[in-house]
Amino acid sequence: METWRGSVLVFLLLSLSLGVLAHGESGGRKHGYHSYSRSCPQAERIIRDTLSKHAGWDRTIPAGVLRLHFHDCFVDVSSFTRFKFWFSNFAGLQGCDGSILLDSTPTDGTKVEKLSLPNFMSARGFEMIEEAKQRLEAACPGVVSCADTLAIAARDSTVMLGGKYYQVPTGRYDGRVSSQERGNTLPSPFGDASALIQNFKERGLSVQDLVVLSGGHTLGTAGCATFSNRLDNFTKTGKPDPTINPRYLSHLRRQCPAPGSPNRVELDKGSEFVFDNSYYKNLARRNGVLTSDQVLNEDSRTSHYVKNFAHKQHDFLSQFAASMVKMGYIGWKNKHNGEIRRVCSMVNTH
Ligand code: HEM
Ligand SMILES: *[C@@H]1O[C@H](CO)[C@@H](O)[C@H](O)[C@H]1NC(C)=O
Repeated sequence: METWRGSVLVFLLLSLSLGVLAHGESGGRKHGYHSYSRSCPQAERIIRDTLSKHAGWDRTIPAGVLRLHFHDCFVDVSSFTRFKFWFSNFAGLQGCDGSILLDSTPTDGTKVEKLSLPNFMSARGFEMIEEAKQRLEAACPGVVSCADTLAIAARDSTVMLGGKYYQVPTGRYDGRVSSQERGNTLPSPFGDASALIQNFKERGLSVQDLVVLSGGHTLGTAGCATFSNRLDNFTKTGKPDPTINPRYLSHLRRQCPAPGSPNRVELDKGSEFVFDNSYYKNLARRNGVLTSDQVLNEDSRTSHYVKNFAHKQHDFLSQFAASMVKMGYIGWKNKHNGEIRRVCSMVNTH
Protein backbone atom coordinates (compact mmCIF):
# COMPACT_ATOMS: atom_id res chain seq x y z
CA MET A 1 0.00 0.00 0.00
CA GLU A 2 2.73 2.41 1.02
CA THR A 3 4.77 1.72 -2.11
CA TRP A 4 1.67 2.02 -4.27
CA ARG A 5 0.97 5.37 -2.72
CA GLY A 6 4.59 6.35 -3.12
CA SER A 7 4.66 5.55 -6.78
CA VAL A 8 1.44 7.43 -7.37
CA LEU A 9 3.02 10.43 -5.68
CA VAL A 10 6.19 10.13 -7.76
CA PHE A 11 4.06 9.78 -10.86
CA LEU A 12 2.05 12.86 -9.99
CA LEU A 13 5.15 14.90 -9.26
CA LEU A 14 6.74 13.73 -12.46
CA SER A 15 3.72 14.59 -14.55
CA LEU A 16 3.50 17.91 -12.76
CA SER A 17 7.07 18.80 -13.59
CA LEU A 18 6.70 17.67 -17.19
CA GLY A 19 3.53 19.71 -17.45
CA VAL A 20 5.35 22.75 -16.13
CA LEU A 21 8.28 22.21 -18.45
CA ALA A 22 6.03 21.73 -21.40
CA HIS A 23 4.57 25.14 -20.63
CA GLY A 24 7.83 26.85 -19.76
CA GLU A 25 9.75 29.17 -21.99
CA SER A 26 11.42 27.58 -24.96
CA GLY A 27 14.67 28.64 -26.45
CA GLY A 28 17.10 26.46 -24.55
CA ARG A 29 17.34 22.71 -24.77
CA LYS A 30 14.85 21.90 -22.09
CA HIS A 31 13.12 18.59 -21.96
CA GLY A 32 11.44 17.78 -25.25
CA TYR A 33 12.57 20.89 -27.07
CA HIS A 34 14.84 20.82 -30.03
CA SER A 35 15.98 23.56 -32.32
CA TYR A 36 16.54 22.64 -35.95
CA SER A 37 19.20 25.32 -36.33
CA ARG A 38 21.95 22.66 -36.19
CA SER A 39 20.15 19.43 -37.10
CA CYS A 40 18.37 20.83 -40.14
CA PRO A 41 19.19 24.50 -40.73
CA GLN A 42 17.21 24.55 -44.00
CA ALA A 43 14.01 23.28 -42.34
CA GLU A 44 12.19 26.56 -41.87
CA ARG A 45 13.14 27.79 -45.34
CA ILE A 46 11.95 24.57 -46.98
CA ILE A 47 8.59 24.83 -45.25
CA ARG A 48 8.18 28.51 -46.11
CA ASP A 49 9.09 27.96 -49.77
CA THR A 50 6.72 25.03 -50.14
CA LEU A 51 3.89 27.04 -48.59
CA SER A 52 4.58 29.99 -50.92
CA LYS A 53 4.53 27.71 -53.93
CA HIS A 54 1.18 26.20 -52.97
CA ALA A 55 -0.28 29.59 -52.04
CA GLY A 56 0.79 30.80 -55.50
CA TRP A 57 -1.35 28.09 -57.05
CA ASP A 58 -4.25 28.55 -54.65
CA ARG A 59 -4.39 31.61 -52.45
CA THR A 60 -6.83 29.95 -50.04
CA ILE A 61 -4.18 27.43 -48.92
CA PRO A 62 -2.80 29.49 -45.99
CA ALA A 63 -6.27 29.53 -44.38
CA GLY A 64 -6.53 25.78 -44.84
CA VAL A 65 -3.11 25.16 -43.27
CA LEU A 66 -3.80 27.42 -40.28
CA ARG A 67 -7.02 25.56 -39.60
CA LEU A 68 -5.28 22.18 -39.95
CA HIS A 69 -2.87 23.06 -37.15
CA PHE A 70 -5.72 24.21 -34.90
CA HIS A 71 -7.66 21.02 -35.57
CA ASP A 72 -4.57 18.89 -35.02
CA CYS A 73 -3.99 20.46 -31.61
CA PHE A 74 -7.59 20.50 -30.41
CA VAL A 75 -8.71 16.88 -30.61
CA ASP A 76 -9.62 15.10 -27.40
CA VAL A 77 -7.96 16.30 -24.28
CA SER A 78 -11.33 16.01 -22.59
CA SER A 79 -12.43 16.39 -18.94
CA PHE A 80 -10.31 16.00 -15.73
CA THR A 81 -8.63 19.03 -17.21
CA ARG A 82 -5.33 19.61 -15.48
CA PHE A 83 -4.56 16.03 -14.67
CA LYS A 84 -5.28 14.78 -18.12
CA PHE A 85 -3.42 17.70 -19.62
CA TRP A 86 -0.24 16.65 -17.86
CA PHE A 87 -1.01 13.04 -18.36
CA SER A 88 -1.29 13.58 -22.09
CA ASN A 89 2.46 14.10 -22.18
CA PHE A 90 2.90 10.42 -21.44
CA ALA A 91 -0.14 8.56 -22.48
CA GLY A 92 -0.25 9.19 -26.20
CA LEU A 93 -3.45 11.18 -26.03
CA GLN A 94 -3.88 13.72 -28.79
CA GLY A 95 -2.73 17.32 -29.16
CA CYS A 96 -0.40 18.83 -31.77
CA ASP A 97 0.99 15.50 -32.92
CA GLY A 98 0.18 15.40 -36.63
CA SER A 99 -2.72 13.01 -36.04
CA ILE A 100 -4.92 14.96 -38.45
CA LEU A 101 -2.48 14.15 -41.27
CA LEU A 102 -2.89 10.37 -41.02
CA ASP A 103 -4.83 8.44 -43.65
CA SER A 104 -6.90 5.37 -42.97
CA THR A 105 -5.12 2.23 -44.03
CA PRO A 106 -7.12 -0.25 -46.08
CA THR A 107 -5.81 -3.17 -44.03
CA ASP A 108 -6.83 -2.09 -40.54
CA GLY A 109 -9.85 -0.02 -41.58
CA THR A 110 -9.11 2.62 -38.91
CA LYS A 111 -11.48 5.56 -39.08
CA VAL A 112 -9.15 8.54 -38.77
CA GLU A 113 -9.57 12.12 -37.59
CA LYS A 114 -9.66 13.39 -41.19
CA LEU A 115 -13.04 11.70 -41.60
CA SER A 116 -14.70 13.36 -38.59
CA LEU A 117 -17.52 15.80 -39.18
CA PRO A 118 -15.50 19.01 -38.65
CA ASN A 119 -12.80 17.82 -41.08
CA PHE A 120 -14.47 15.73 -43.75
CA MET A 121 -14.63 17.60 -47.08
CA SER A 122 -13.42 20.82 -45.47
CA ALA A 123 -9.94 20.32 -44.00
CA ARG A 124 -7.43 21.47 -46.61
CA GLY A 125 -3.71 21.86 -47.15
CA PHE A 126 -2.58 18.24 -46.76
CA GLU A 127 -0.66 18.22 -50.06
CA MET A 128 1.33 21.27 -49.02
CA ILE A 129 2.44 19.61 -45.77
CA GLU A 130 3.20 16.33 -47.53
CA GLU A 131 5.38 18.03 -50.12
CA ALA A 132 7.26 20.04 -47.47
CA LYS A 133 7.86 16.80 -45.58
CA GLN A 134 9.21 15.06 -48.68
CA ARG A 135 11.67 17.89 -49.18
CA LEU A 136 12.61 17.84 -45.49
CA GLU A 137 13.26 14.10 -45.65
CA ALA A 138 15.47 14.61 -48.70
CA ALA A 139 17.48 17.32 -46.91
CA CYS A 140 17.60 15.88 -43.37
CA PRO A 141 16.12 12.39 -43.13
CA GLY A 142 14.28 11.52 -39.93
CA VAL A 143 14.80 14.87 -38.21
CA VAL A 144 11.74 17.13 -38.60
CA SER A 145 8.38 15.86 -37.34
CA CYS A 146 5.14 16.31 -39.26
CA ALA A 147 3.61 18.01 -36.22
CA ASP A 148 6.41 20.62 -36.24
CA THR A 149 6.12 21.02 -40.01
CA LEU A 150 2.43 21.83 -39.59
CA ALA A 151 3.05 24.22 -36.68
CA ILE A 152 5.69 26.13 -38.66
CA ALA A 153 3.57 26.19 -41.83
CA ALA A 154 0.62 27.56 -39.81
CA ARG A 155 2.82 30.35 -38.45
CA ASP A 156 4.08 31.16 -41.95
CA SER A 157 0.50 31.17 -43.28
CA THR A 158 -0.35 34.02 -40.93
CA VAL A 159 2.95 35.88 -41.46
CA MET A 160 2.71 35.86 -45.25
CA LEU A 161 -0.66 37.63 -45.02
CA GLY A 162 0.28 40.24 -42.44
CA GLY A 163 0.45 38.41 -39.11
CA LYS A 164 3.27 38.88 -36.62
CA TYR A 165 6.28 36.56 -36.77
CA TYR A 166 6.94 34.37 -33.75
CA GLN A 167 9.42 31.61 -33.12
CA VAL A 168 7.68 28.23 -33.12
CA PRO A 169 8.96 26.01 -30.29
CA THR A 170 9.97 22.78 -32.00
CA GLY A 171 10.78 19.22 -31.01
CA ARG A 172 7.27 17.75 -30.97
CA TYR A 173 7.14 14.14 -32.00
CA ASP A 174 4.38 12.66 -34.12
CA GLY A 175 1.66 10.48 -32.64
CA ARG A 176 0.72 7.05 -33.90
CA VAL A 177 -3.02 7.31 -33.30
CA SER A 178 -5.79 9.12 -35.13
CA SER A 179 -9.47 8.68 -34.43
CA GLN A 180 -12.59 9.84 -36.19
CA GLU A 181 -14.47 9.86 -32.90
CA ARG A 182 -11.95 12.16 -31.22
CA GLY A 183 -12.18 14.51 -34.19
CA ASN A 184 -15.70 15.22 -33.06
CA THR A 185 -14.40 16.78 -29.83
CA LEU A 186 -13.49 19.95 -31.75
CA PRO A 187 -15.54 23.02 -30.73
CA SER A 188 -18.87 23.40 -32.52
CA PRO A 189 -19.72 26.43 -34.67
CA PHE A 190 -23.21 26.29 -33.14
CA GLY A 191 -21.85 26.57 -29.61
CA ASP A 192 -22.58 29.41 -27.18
CA ALA A 193 -19.91 31.27 -25.25
CA SER A 194 -20.07 28.88 -22.28
CA ALA A 195 -19.48 25.84 -24.48
CA LEU A 196 -16.55 27.53 -26.23
CA ILE A 197 -14.99 28.72 -22.97
CA GLN A 198 -15.30 25.21 -21.53
CA ASN A 199 -13.81 23.58 -24.62
CA PHE A 200 -10.78 25.86 -24.48
CA LYS A 201 -10.43 25.46 -20.72
CA GLU A 202 -10.25 21.68 -21.11
CA ARG A 203 -7.20 22.26 -23.28
CA GLY A 204 -5.55 24.59 -20.78
CA LEU A 205 -6.50 27.72 -22.72
CA SER A 206 -8.10 30.87 -21.27
CA VAL A 207 -11.08 32.99 -22.27
CA GLN A 208 -8.63 35.45 -23.78
CA ASP A 209 -7.01 32.65 -25.82
CA LEU A 210 -10.47 31.75 -27.10
CA VAL A 211 -11.15 35.27 -28.36
CA VAL A 212 -7.63 35.75 -29.72
CA LEU A 213 -7.41 32.42 -31.53
CA SER A 214 -10.90 32.81 -33.00
CA GLY A 215 -9.23 35.70 -34.81
CA GLY A 216 -7.85 32.98 -37.09
CA HIS A 217 -11.16 33.59 -38.84
CA THR A 218 -9.63 36.74 -40.26
CA LEU A 219 -8.70 34.27 -43.04
CA GLY A 220 -10.76 31.86 -45.07
CA THR A 221 -14.34 30.90 -45.70
CA ALA A 222 -17.18 28.80 -44.31
CA GLY A 223 -19.72 26.66 -46.13
CA CYS A 224 -23.42 27.59 -45.87
CA ALA A 225 -24.23 24.52 -43.80
CA THR A 226 -22.15 25.85 -40.90
CA PHE A 227 -24.34 28.94 -40.34
CA SER A 228 -27.53 28.76 -42.46
CA ASN A 229 -29.51 27.86 -39.32
CA ARG A 230 -29.05 31.52 -38.33
CA LEU A 231 -30.78 32.90 -41.41
CA ASP A 232 -34.34 31.68 -40.81
CA ASN A 233 -36.25 30.20 -37.89
CA PHE A 234 -33.21 30.43 -35.62
CA THR A 235 -33.67 28.19 -32.55
CA LYS A 236 -37.30 27.68 -33.58
CA THR A 237 -38.20 31.32 -32.99
CA GLY A 238 -39.56 31.64 -36.51
CA LYS A 239 -37.10 34.53 -36.98
CA PRO A 240 -33.46 34.90 -38.00
CA ASP A 241 -30.71 35.22 -35.39
CA PRO A 242 -31.31 38.69 -33.90
CA THR A 243 -27.54 39.21 -33.56
CA ILE A 244 -27.05 39.45 -37.34
CA ASN A 245 -26.88 42.94 -38.79
CA PRO A 246 -30.02 43.19 -41.03
CA ARG A 247 -28.02 44.39 -44.02
CA TYR A 248 -25.57 41.56 -43.63
CA LEU A 249 -28.46 39.13 -43.23
CA SER A 250 -29.73 39.88 -46.72
CA HIS A 251 -26.20 39.42 -48.06
CA LEU A 252 -25.89 36.01 -46.35
CA ARG A 253 -29.32 34.96 -47.59
CA ARG A 254 -28.30 35.78 -51.15
CA GLN A 255 -25.13 33.72 -50.71
CA CYS A 256 -27.01 30.81 -49.15
CA PRO A 257 -30.46 30.60 -50.70
CA ALA A 258 -30.94 27.10 -49.28
CA PRO A 259 -29.39 25.42 -46.22
CA GLY A 260 -27.61 22.96 -48.47
CA SER A 261 -26.16 25.57 -50.85
CA PRO A 262 -22.62 24.64 -51.78
CA ASN A 263 -21.44 28.26 -51.58
CA ARG A 264 -18.80 29.56 -49.22
CA VAL A 265 -18.77 32.91 -47.44
CA GLU A 266 -15.72 34.76 -46.15
CA LEU A 267 -15.43 34.56 -42.37
CA ASP A 268 -14.04 38.10 -42.29
CA LYS A 269 -16.28 40.15 -44.57
CA GLY A 270 -14.20 42.08 -47.08
CA SER A 271 -10.80 40.94 -45.77
CA GLU A 272 -10.47 37.21 -46.35
CA PHE A 273 -6.85 37.35 -47.47
CA VAL A 274 -5.38 39.79 -44.94
CA PHE A 275 -4.34 38.76 -41.47
CA ASP A 276 -5.64 41.78 -39.57
CA ASN A 277 -8.12 42.79 -36.84
CA SER A 278 -11.06 43.43 -39.14
CA TYR A 279 -12.66 40.16 -37.96
CA TYR A 280 -13.28 41.91 -34.61
CA LYS A 281 -14.56 45.07 -36.30
CA ASN A 282 -17.02 42.87 -38.16
CA LEU A 283 -18.13 41.19 -34.94
CA ALA A 284 -18.70 44.58 -33.35
CA ARG A 285 -20.96 45.50 -36.31
CA ARG A 286 -22.71 42.14 -36.02
CA ASN A 287 -21.25 40.92 -39.27
CA GLY A 288 -20.05 37.63 -37.79
CA VAL A 289 -20.66 34.47 -39.83
CA LEU A 290 -20.77 31.60 -37.33
CA THR A 291 -22.75 31.57 -34.10
CA SER A 292 -19.43 30.79 -32.39
CA ASP A 293 -17.99 34.01 -33.82
CA GLN A 294 -20.84 36.40 -33.05
CA VAL A 295 -21.37 35.17 -29.47
CA LEU A 296 -17.90 36.48 -28.62
CA ASN A 297 -19.27 39.99 -29.12
CA GLU A 298 -22.50 39.31 -27.24
CA ASP A 299 -21.26 37.67 -24.03
CA SER A 300 -19.82 39.89 -21.29
CA ARG A 301 -17.00 37.42 -20.57
CA THR A 302 -15.61 37.85 -24.08
CA SER A 303 -16.98 41.12 -25.50
CA HIS A 304 -14.37 43.36 -23.85
CA TYR A 305 -11.60 41.48 -25.69
CA VAL A 306 -13.48 41.87 -28.97
CA LYS A 307 -13.80 45.59 -28.35
CA ASN A 308 -10.12 45.95 -27.55
CA PHE A 309 -8.91 43.99 -30.58
CA ALA A 310 -11.32 45.87 -32.86
CA HIS A 311 -9.57 49.07 -31.81
CA LYS A 312 -6.01 47.87 -31.38
CA GLN A 313 -4.65 45.85 -34.24
CA HIS A 314 -1.25 45.64 -32.58
CA ASP A 315 -2.71 44.02 -29.43
CA PHE A 316 -4.43 41.40 -31.54
CA LEU A 317 -1.38 40.57 -33.65
CA SER A 318 0.97 40.15 -30.70
CA GLN A 319 -1.58 38.26 -28.58
CA PHE A 320 -2.32 35.97 -31.49
CA ALA A 321 1.34 35.03 -31.75
CA ALA A 322 1.48 34.32 -28.00
CA SER A 323 -1.70 32.23 -27.96
CA MET A 324 -0.54 30.20 -30.97
CA VAL A 325 2.64 29.28 -29.10
CA LYS A 326 0.52 28.28 -26.10
CA MET A 327 -1.85 26.20 -28.24
CA GLY A 328 1.16 24.51 -29.80
CA TYR A 329 2.11 22.97 -26.44
CA ILE A 330 -1.08 20.92 -26.14
CA GLY A 331 -0.24 17.22 -25.84
CA TRP A 332 3.46 17.77 -26.61
CA LYS A 333 4.96 14.39 -27.48
CA ASN A 334 8.58 13.33 -27.10
CA LYS A 335 10.66 10.38 -28.27
CA HIS A 336 9.17 8.14 -25.58
CA ASN A 337 5.60 8.48 -26.75
CA GLY A 338 6.00 9.57 -30.36
CA GLU A 339 8.07 9.14 -33.49
CA ILE A 340 9.35 11.21 -36.40
CA ARG A 341 7.12 10.02 -39.18
CA ARG A 342 8.74 9.54 -42.58
CA VAL A 343 5.52 10.23 -44.47
CA CYS A 344 2.92 12.42 -42.80
CA SER A 345 -0.07 10.37 -43.89
CA MET A 346 1.28 7.08 -42.47
CA VAL A 347 2.77 5.92 -39.19
CA ASN A 348 6.24 4.38 -39.54
CA THR A 349 6.50 0.67 -40.04
CA HIS A 350 9.65 -0.29 -38.23
C1 HEM B 1 -13.44 28.77 -31.42
C2 HEM B 1 -13.91 27.71 -32.01
C3 HEM B 1 -13.92 27.52 -33.50
C4 HEM B 1 -14.96 27.04 -34.23
C5 HEM B 1 -16.31 26.59 -33.68
C6 HEM B 1 -14.56 27.05 -35.61
C7 HEM B 1 -15.35 26.63 -36.66
C8 HEM B 1 -15.04 26.78 -37.99
C9 HEM B 1 -15.90 26.44 -39.09
C10 HEM B 1 -17.29 25.79 -38.96
C11 HEM B 1 -15.28 26.78 -40.24
C12 HEM B 1 -15.82 26.61 -41.66
C13 HEM B 1 -15.42 25.26 -42.19
C14 HEM B 1 -16.01 24.98 -43.54
O1 HEM B 1 -17.21 25.24 -43.75
O2 HEM B 1 -15.25 24.48 -44.41
C15 HEM B 1 -14.00 27.32 -39.87
C16 HEM B 1 -13.06 27.77 -40.77
C17 HEM B 1 -11.80 28.22 -40.41
N1 HEM B 1 -11.27 28.23 -39.15
FE1 HEM B 1 -12.28 27.92 -37.43
N2 HEM B 1 -13.29 27.53 -35.70
C18 HEM B 1 -12.84 27.84 -34.44
C19 HEM B 1 -11.60 28.31 -34.11
C20 HEM B 1 -10.56 28.49 -35.00
C21 HEM B 1 -9.19 28.75 -34.63
C22 HEM B 1 -8.69 28.82 -33.19
C23 HEM B 1 -8.48 28.89 -35.78
C24 HEM B 1 -7.00 29.17 -35.98
C25 HEM B 1 -6.23 29.73 -35.10
C26 HEM B 1 -9.41 28.73 -36.87
C27 HEM B 1 -9.09 28.86 -38.20
C28 HEM B 1 -9.99 28.71 -39.23
C29 HEM B 1 -9.70 29.06 -40.61
C30 HEM B 1 -8.41 29.68 -41.11
C31 HEM B 1 -10.83 28.74 -41.35
C32 HEM B 1 -11.02 28.89 -42.87
C33 HEM B 1 -10.65 27.58 -43.50
C34 HEM B 1 -10.74 27.58 -45.00
O3 HEM B 1 -10.92 28.64 -45.62
O4 HEM B 1 -10.63 26.48 -45.57
N3 HEM B 1 -10.66 28.46 -36.36
N4 HEM B 1 -13.88 27.31 -38.50
C1 LIG C 1 -39.80 26.94 -36.89
O1 LIG C 1 -39.40 25.62 -36.57
C2 LIG C 1 -40.32 24.99 -35.68
C3 LIG C 1 -39.74 23.64 -35.30
O2 LIG C 1 -39.13 22.99 -36.38
C4 LIG C 1 -41.69 24.86 -36.34
O3 LIG C 1 -42.59 24.24 -35.46
C5 LIG C 1 -42.19 26.24 -36.71
O4 LIG C 1 -43.40 26.15 -37.43
C6 LIG C 1 -41.15 26.99 -37.56
N1 LIG C 1 -41.58 28.36 -37.75
C7 LIG C 1 -41.57 28.96 -38.95
C8 LIG C 1 -42.05 30.38 -38.97
O5 LIG C 1 -41.18 28.41 -39.96
